[in-house]
Amino acid sequence: METTLIILKPDAVQRGLMGRIISRFEDKGIQVVGAKFMKISGELASRHYESHQGKPFYDGLVTFMTSSPVLVLALRGVGAIGISRKMMGATFGSNAEPGTIRGDFGVSNSFNLIHGSDSPEAAERELSLFFGEGEIVDYDRAVECWVYDLGSGQPE
Ligand code: RTP
Ligand code: MG
Repeated sequence: METTLIILKPDAVQRGLMGRIISRFEDKGIQVVGAKFMKISGELASRHYESHQGKPFYDGLVTFMTSSPVLVLALRGVGAIGISRKMMGATFGSNAEPGTIRGDFGVSNSFNLIHGSDSPEAAERELSLFFGEGEIVDYDRAVECWVYDLGSGQPE
């Protein structure tokens, strides 16, 4: 099982798309194990996007991410990092495929609704930035045996 860090960005919150985006992940069978509605500080935004420091879009990105509240989620499932990235679609809304979150809900390149960790290492780092001890909640889902084939003893 992987856990990934998802952020519904300020545009998703302002446009009233939180429920519809969360529903896509729930519909897919991905488990919500953490949620936090917050305004990101400049310091936290710069730590989260530290790999982009110095790039032409960096200042605008930090301004955007700190401009209005976000909903931060921890999502869990087999392959959850890659599955979530596929569901998000390409970075720019203008060329994200229909059927993806960015492709269906937006046209902007910078205001692209959602962040998702892009590797296990990034997920671990980002989850620890946004969630403290006990804020990611492990729990059994009654539906687990229908989301996954557990016949081999492992979710498949
Ligand atoms: P994210 O980190 O937010 O999940 O997005 P991503 O992996 O698809 O894209 P990334 O390359 O990591 O870029 C981070 C965010 O910066 C903004 N961006 N703007 N105008 C530009 O050229 C540009 N490039 C990137 C986007 O908000 C992007 O999600
Ligand atoms: Mg990225």
